Amino acid sequence: MAEARIIGLGACLPEQVVTNADLEKRIDTTDAWIRERTGIEQRHIAKDGETTCDLAEGAAREALAAAGVDPSELDLIVVGTTTPDVIFPSTACLLQDRLGAKDCPAFDVNAACTGFIYALSVAEKYLKSGAVKTALVVGAETLSRMLDWNDRGTCVLFGDGAGAVVLRADQRQGIISTHIHANGSYRHLLHNPVGVSAGFKDEPNHGVRVMMAGNEVFRVAVRTLARIVDETLDAAGLDKSAIDWLIPHQANLRIIKATAEHLKMPMERVVVTVNKHGNTSAGSVPLALHHGVRNGQVQEGQLLLLEAFGGGFTWGSALVRL
Ligand code: UT7
Repeated sequence: MAEARIIGLGACLPEQVVTNADLEKRIDTTDAWIRERTGIEQRHIAKDGETTCDLAEGAAREALAAAGVDPSELDLIVVGTTTPDVIFPSTACLLQDRLGAKDCPAFDVNAACTGFIYALSVAEKYLKSGAVKTALVVGAETLSRMLDWNDRGTCVLFGDGAGAVVLRADQRQGIISTHIHANGSYRHLLHNPVGVSAGFKDEPNHGVRVMMAGNEVFRVAVRTLARIVDETLDAAGLDKSAIDWLIPHQANLRIIKATAEHLKMPMERVVVTVNKHGNTSAGSVPLALHHGVRNGQVQEGQLLLLEAFGGGFTWGSALVRL
């Protein structure tokens, strides 16, 4: 059986930065509250007309260049997103056309903040089965488009961005395992309750907005992420001490610290970008991975534990030898 290695990484963040101080001027919040409760200092927000596919394309082009892969070599494109440019075609199809990657399968995966891990898991299976040789996996979002900018409980948390990896079949170990789960009975705690089939509402933005019971989501997230990291280590027969880096979903610094504590990992071994990016949903894990590698923290050959948790609820992890 082939292995699936990450051979290129890319990232793309909108230029526009919105700081906590900017939000203080618009809504009843403070920089101190946002920093203390979430660790967020600023987030990138797409400008008018800038779409999820624009960010996905930026990240994908960097990942392809880093990998030395021409788009014509791609056998598969999977995009994790909850904020596609249009209802259809999928963002993956739009991206395929932009890149000039002809005829390969291209599709989106909607697993909210776990979207990248889900997409990675799908691509891993195709590569390891021998069905494809080269795959592009992207996590890309413009969550800002579905925020209620008057709801201080949600709008301060999210940002826009995309990260991408190019995977190639190889003899050497790469993606060691992926683990994905969902429990739809928690759907009401974090959701965007309108859509094509359920219908839209006669409200601002047609009722499109993220609704979250933050406190309850927080508690389940901490518990569930502890479980998924244990499941991942058990599957590989590894001790917590084997992990070189934790690359967590960047929703809240307190959740990240709780998972690190569970793993007995010092924060020096955890990649943190939530302070600068906010929660970019499916973009968050590949953006953090890219950040860790580009600034020289995360090195080739090291063992990484990627994890995420999001609406659905969905959650997942990946054990990766870089
Ligand atoms: O990525 C998908 C998964 N999502 C998550 O993992 C998010 C999980 N949840 C969280 O990160 C946290 O629950 C939040 C950051 C959303 C909220 O933090 P919290 O410590 O759970 O605060 P809370 O919701 O219990 O609210 C505490 C207080 C409330 O005021 P009262 O009722 O105590 O007077 C809120 O109204 O903080 C108030 N509050 C704010 N105050 C200033 C809520 N949002 C804000 C705000 N600025 N932006």
